[in-house]
Amino acid sequence: MKILVIGYGSIGKRHIKNLLSIPKMEVIVLTKQKSSDAILKKCSVHNILKDCILEKPSAAIIANNSSEHIEVALKLAKEGINLFIEKPLSNNLKNIGELSKTVKSKKLLTMIGCNLRFHPCIKKIKQLIDKKTIGKILSVQVESSSYLPDWHPNESYSKSYAARKDLGGGVILTCIHEIDYLYWFFGMPYSIMSQSGKFSTLKIDVEDLSLSIIKFPKNLLAELHLDYFQRPDIRKCKIIGTKGTIMWDSKSNQVKLYNSGKNHWTIKLAVKNYDRNDMYVDEIKHFLNCIKQRKQTINPLYEGIETLRIALSIKKSSKTGRLTKV
Ligand SMILES: NC(=O)c1ccc[n+]([C@@H]2O[C@H](COP(=O)([O-])OP(=O)(O)OC[C@H]3O[C@@H](n4cnc5c(N)ncnc54)[C@H](OP(=O)(O)O)[C@@H]3O)[C@@H](O)[C@H]2O)c1
Repeated sequence: MKILVIGYGSIGKRHIKNLLSIPKMEVIVLTKQKSSDAILKKCSVHNILKDCILEKPSAAIIANNSSEHIEVALKLAKEGINLFIEKPLSNNLKNIGELSKTVKSKKLLTMIGCNLRFHPCIKKIKQLIDKKTIGKILSVQVESSSYLPDWHPNESYSKSYAARKDLGGGVILTCIHEIDYLYWFFGMPYSIMSQSGKFSTLKIDVEDLSLSIIKFPKNLLAELHLDYFQRPDIRKCKIIGTKGTIMWDSKSNQVKLYNSGKNHWTIKLAVKNYDRNDMYVDEIKHFLNCIKQRKQTINPLYEGIETLRIALSIKKSSKTGRLTKV
């Protein structure tokens, strides 16, 4: 199989390494960078998109800056190339309708790279919710906190897409994983009340904190905390239902279930020494498998559009100071 990877940044490199570990995989790379390295030497490298398309890839992984995803996705879709688009789908809704129409008319398979859907603990929580283990869910608290300069200590964080408005950064869009899994668990929310902004002294021109209250169907309220300035980093999820509570955090990597009737906690899943790369390997294998079998992926374009709409509603509510209908 031939796969095209757009962009040779941090996530592009990860995808290429993972692809090259699959037997009989041919990787084409589009990058503006001139210098080559050991990984690129194993790929067919171009700096013009047209030359990549001439190689007739079965699919493309779009891993450039968030604000540039749609432009290249649209060109590839028109050529009938299946699409894996890194999160977030984009930083606005421009040309999304056209991309959607093209994907439909060309019958393309699409997937958004929200790899937390492949994290064993997030998958376990989804199973517990779907089995109604804790009865009717009443409220949810979700947190994703980290310190932006720690992400890539050898690079200048201020220059990264995550820190820059023009490249589609900011904590809301960049840390959209939590919004994606809330949508995956509970569906499309009705409304959002949010406050977001820049509160730290980080040298960035985007929001570094976002606090939201999100109203989901079935009268379920979720609290979402996203920040760029917390050390140590942590991801957490607590879901409270009429019959119990589910809890997970990224430090313990345990999914715990509290049974209100029996008044005790049990550990439903404990993942030791988790290798984060496993999520990325699993998501790419899932995508390639769906292409081979011509079946819908776990997170197709329309779900990426919904998740982007939620993120943009969080931004809108923060700007207007009002409850925003999604
Ligand atoms: N799913 C996830 O967990 C995850 C994780 C990280 C990022 N992402 C998403 O993936 C996208 C890209 O993120 P990223 O972290 O890979 O960003 P990045 O490392 O800053 O790379 C972004 C772009 O900058 C250029 N670039 C990178 N390193 C360069 C260098 N040394 N010299 C010159 N140009 C360089 C590359 O373009 P050229 O190759 O054309 O030069 C690359 O496509 C974003 O949309 C982000 O949200 C997803």
